Amino acid sequence: MGTALIQGASRGIGLQFCATLAARGVKVVACCRNPSSAQLLKSLQEQHHGLIDTVQVDVTSEDDIRNAAQYVQNTHGKLDLLINASGILSPTGRGETSLRDVTFKVLEETFAVNAFGPLMMAKHFNPILYAGTGALGAQSLDPKEQHSAIFVNMSARVGSIEDNRFGGWYSYRMSKAALNMATKNLSLELGRGKKKIVCIAFHPGTVDTDLTQPYRKNIKGKLFSTQQSVGYLMSVIDKVTISDTGKYFAWDGTQIPF
Ligand SMILES: NC(=O)c1ccc[n+]([C@@H]2O[C@H](COP(=O)([O-])OP(=O)(O)OC[C@H]3O[C@@H](n4cnc5c(N)ncnc54)[C@H](OP(=O)(O)O)[C@@H]3O)[C@@H](O)[C@H]2O)c1
Repeated sequence: MGTALIQGASRGIGLQFCATLAARGVKVVACCRNPSSAQLLKSLQEQHHGLIDTVQVDVTSEDDIRNAAQYVQNTHGKLDLLINASGILSPTGRGETSLRDVTFKVLEETFAVNAFGPLMMAKHFNPILYAGTGALGAQSLDPKEQHSAIFVNMSARVGSIEDNRFGGWYSYRMSKAALNMATKNLSLELGRGKKKIVCIAFHPGTVDTDLTQPYRKNIKGKLFSTQQSVGYLMSVIDKVTISDTGKYFAWDGTQIPF
């Protein structure tokens, strides 16, 4: 059934990925900042006895990421899927509405969580992904083009430069655009050798989580539950092959321009 690691698993979309994958019988390594106080994750772990392992990772700490990779290497030996699901709109929970609100502190903290951390995950976990067995996703029919694992960065449509029609949310938009560049770069470096890792970015739709809570009354159009969003994203994951590496997918499988 494979082994998947979800980084940012304490709540929201990351937690739902853990639930959906465990329900399929996939072994899950759930990373979060404080596993001992992540109550929802703990009850999920009890529900799926023995299937979910938890590991402490603050994605802004390279030491945490290095230690987690060492632990996963020793305990699980390989990963077939890694999803970077953690993310913040801003440390205050609200995006900047104009230049007036932009500060170095907010930019630095948002970039650290949304862009630098996911790239550091790739740096320390790629050997474990190369050891994957290609158990998840679709596979190319050409044996030379088969992937060992899939690496997913949870981006957002607002990270698209071409799609930006409203402005605002400087830190969030810029950090997700940087994350998209990291995804593209990773797809090139990790897809070159004999072993290949599919690297993709996702927009999950607008989803009912703590992140969207402050904006709930302004949301026009679809607001997905985490189950709906992750259901759609899993349908995309189920179909990816190495020919999809470097792509930026919306929840419905359509490609978003960078
Ligand atoms: N919800 C949406 O509509 C939407 C739309 C587009 C994109 N996204 C993206 O989807 C991803 C998941 O969002 P969500 O809606 O599920 O958000 P959420 O419910 O607010 O959850 C955010 C997650 O990120 C974790 N996190 C924050 N800072 C961290 C750090 N320094 N180290 C490790 N984990 C950290 C949180 O852990 P703690 O519990 O420890 O705080 C939590 O598990 C994000 O990347 C977000 O940008 C969401």
